[in-house]
Amino acid sequence: CKTFHAHEHQNHSQLPRLQQTRSSPLVVAKEKVSITVFGASGDLAVKKLFPALFRLRVEGLIPSDASIFGYARSKLPREKFESKLTAKIPSGASNEAVASFVAQCSYVSGAYDKIEDFTNLRLALEETERGSASQLRIYYLSLPESTFETVCRGIRNVLLPAAGESGVRIVLEKPFGKDTASYLQLSRQLSPLFPETNYYRIDHYLAKEMIQTIVPLRFSNPMLESTWNSSNICSVEISFKEKIGTEGRGGYFDGYGIIRDVVQNHLLQVLALIAMEPPATVDASAIRCSKATVLREVAPARFEECLVGQYGRSLDGKEQGYLEDPTVPAGSKMATYARFVLHVNTPRWKGVPFIITAGKALDEQKVEVRMKYRGGTHATSEKRAALYPGSAGEELVIRVQPDEAVLLNLNTKLPGLSQQPDDRSLVRTAISLDYKVKYPDVRLPDAYEQLLLDVFRGDQQRFVGDDELETSWNIVSPLLHAIERADAAPPMIYPFGSSGPPSSLHFPLSSGQSKL
Ligand code: NDP
Ligand code: BG6
Repeated sequence: CKTFHAHEHQNHSQLPRLQQTRSSPLVVAKEKVSITVFGASGDLAVKKLFPALFRLRVEGLIPSDASIFGYARSKLPREKFESKLTAKIPSGASNEAVASFVAQCSYVSGAYDKIEDFTNLRLALEETERGSASQLRIYYLSLPESTFETVCRGIRNVLLPAAGESGVRIVLEKPFGKDTASYLQLSRQLSPLFPETNYYRIDHYLAKEMIQTIVPLRFSNPMLESTWNSSNICSVEISFKEKIGTEGRGGYFDGYGIIRDVVQNHLLQVLALIAMEPPATVDASAIRCSKATVLREVAPARFEECLVGQYGRSLDGKEQGYLEDPTVPAGSKMATYARFVLHVNTPRWKGVPFIITAGKALDEQKVEVRMKYRGGTHATSEKRAALYPGSAGEELVIRVQPDEAVLLNLNTKLPGLSQQPDDRSLVRTAISLDYKVKYPDVRLPDAYEQLLLDVFRGDQQRFVGDDELETSWNIVSPLLHAIERADAAPPMIYPFGSSGPPSSLHFPLSSGQSKL
């Protein structure tokens, strides 16, 4: 929990905060607020950031006079920029709301490494800030990580507001490096430029509803927390399955692969929330500290306990294989599927396998955590087996998407008329908290809405700390190096739309996990 505390105490008290509560969402900002999206011509800005900013503005959660700037090298005429701003705004939005949003947005074209171009942006910012005594400037780097140092240096040298660094928040998109060494190098480049509290490192999984529910589910329900350990739980499966392939992002994906793309970040964050010890409080620094502490206890993933695959053409021939994507280099051995075991060496979890599965172009779209109960101590499980042969231990499932839910799989009596005196017929059934059924009127926001709102409010709870990143890279780096050795066996090919490489269903053999 390294440098984070020191900077947080030092800086948070100085940071301007917006006033916002659940009961009274209208925001009153003491300072003039702006957000600049670097890389505004790109996919993420169009798909996620502009729609999220639109929604927050319509709901009055960010100040209506907050200026929104897009910045990129592409020379976009105003109509083109407007079409990017509105491309993914839902069709039901009112024309007035869209027009009002678009009117708040400006575009500045320039390079990421030219003082003159950053000066143009500064002049444009100052124009909208005229007359305000203080300013909060948010800079969102929706850019490849190779540009981060240059852009942060430019912000430091040219784009600070009157209050200096305390009036700046910088949002960084994943991935952060390709292994421990490159992560540390990036970190060494960024840390002299701004203190840790200026950086908001995105992992959008932390803002998903069901990931946010893990901490309260565990720590506000003693019945669950008291069984949340190796005495009661025999395996934890964390799985990410996508039906889509790389979909035009093959160029990016091939530089990273599935382990860097979703495991090192999203799935290890989930693992940390499931496996961590109770935090001292539920504020950002305490939760980050608990996560970093448990990640340090996770043994590096082993090549011998890993299976990797790459999708080929679908069996019906309609969907192309990974290597047929024109943006993927010929003969690439990059993994689009991985399944491996992690061991958390804390007293709570010693001996319990955490089975990680992640894959693209699979047969279903699903992200879930599945915690399998042992079915009692040795004595009680023998008793259970004697009373109800074939019965299994309970399973707690946190379904992240689609259809957010918490499920408890149990054995119950087969309902209906019993015809035999010793009828012991059981049925496997679930007690289900299905969010769509339970909360039909609640709109679950897109993760980027929550994250952008957090940045406006100066709340770092759902962002990733630098020490968590370093430890999570330590967990996967040796495995990545082993998989990517020139003489390593190529990934196993699985058909697009299948459940993964054929042997994945039986892998790993020893941990008693359920079929995925
Ligand atoms: P893009 O590849 O679309 O890049 C965004 C913009 O950055 C481009 O429009 C381009 O703008 C500029 N750019 C691209 N490559 C370079 C380069 N080598 N040097 C300088 N500028 C460059 O990325 P995305 O929008 O898809 O993603 C942005 C960031 O978000 C990345 O870090 C990505 O990993 C991350 N991310 C993206 C997700 C997604 O769904 N798209 C999901 C999760 C994370 P111009 O040429 O006009 O300057
Ligand atoms: C991103 C990955 O971080 O997460 C993508 O780069 C992946 O490859 C995406 O598709 C999944 O996010 P979500 O929110 O759709 O589960």
